[in-house]
Amino acid sequence: MKTYSIAVLEGDGIGPEITREAVKVFRAIEPIAGVSFDLRFAPFGGQAWFDHGTAFPEDTKRICDEADAILKGPIGLGTEASRQIPVDEQPERAGLLPMRKRYNTYANFRPVYLPPELCHFSPLRKERIPDGIDIMMIRELVGGLYFGEKERGVNGAGERYVKETLEYTDAQIRRIAHVGFQEARRRRKLLHSVHKSNVLLSSVLWNEVVEEVATEYPDVRLEHIIVDAAATALVLRPQAFDVMVMENMFGDILSDLGGGILGSLGLMPSACVGTEKSYYEPSHGSAPDIAGKGIANPYSMIGSVALLLEKSFGLDDAGRRIWDAARAVFGAGYVTADLAVPGQQAKMVDTAGFGDLVVAALKS
Ligand code: IPM
Ligand code: MN
Repeated sequence: MKTYSIAVLEGDGIGPEITREAVKVFRAIEPIAGVSFDLRFAPFGGQAWFDHGTAFPEDTKRICDEADAILKGPIGLGTEASRQIPVDEQPERAGLLPMRKRYNTYANFRPVYLPPELCHFSPLRKERIPDGIDIMMIRELVGGLYFGEKERGVNGAGERYVKETLEYTDAQIRRIAHVGFQEARRRRKLLHSVHKSNVLLSSVLWNEVVEEVATEYPDVRLEHIIVDAAATALVLRPQAFDVMVMENMFGDILSDLGGGILGSLGLMPSACVGTEKSYYEPSHGSAPDIAGKGIANPYSMIGSVALLLEKSFGLDDAGRRIWDAARAVFGAGYVTADLAVPGQQAKMVDTAGFGDLVVAALKS
């Protein structure tokens, strides 16, 4: 039997409790997929800084290096605890970004998906989304402002100033454009390329390269859309979108908007695909305010397992089974308190109860 090794980084806040449910799903899918998973837990994030003096310990790096894929929970601590960590050593800067860089995970897939029967989660009126919401946002993840040179100082006039740079090369844009077109080709053959070329020179190059790549995909319809207009259109007409491709910062912001139109970031799993290795994580933060209460929904983590099976190992059937199982649980009216919609009837379960129901649905 094939065994895959998976580095499991529980992270901070609600990370450990939603990871526990993802682990149950790994165990339940093994006999179904006919493979086994060697899960190797390792510390990562804000708590790792307190316990080991660094957000991304050397042992964790080794475990990730050796693993076939990485499942990562959300990271970050509450304001008080965060303040004790020097800015340069905070888990986002010293853990997450180095992880993205280390594995060159340039393609971040963020599905913004809500089937029609789950539309009650969305703050949008049902009439606006009769067929639900089904968008794949693709975010470039290792370039742009996040990784550009930074400088902070005091200028000649004695004023504090800061400078951050937004840099992209032709090759960086080209490879993410290909990812966008290929994804569109697998879906409804419509690609929106998001830009701000009326202001940013980086977007002028972005559009040029995307147009060049488009000639290789005559079967895909390409639309250019300005990022601010895209924000409005996502709320007013989410059904106008199929696949969207964008640079790092735009993708950070618009994908949270994606979570907003679904009704919660808790419904946003993601895949960070690299040249050799990929890691999988919820798109949301660690929600320290609700940590340990058993009210966080594990869907984003369970969906990340489904993406991991599909994208790292080509186990598409197993992945589909997990999506179907999780949606069946929502479809049967179960929710956790974090997702409860005021004024709506629901069967309330806790984090572990939700995971158990997904496992039961998987086995049925
Ligand atoms: C995300 C998160 C991260 C980002 C933070 C935690 C650094 O918001 O994955 O979207 O900005 O990329
Ligand atoms: Mn974000």
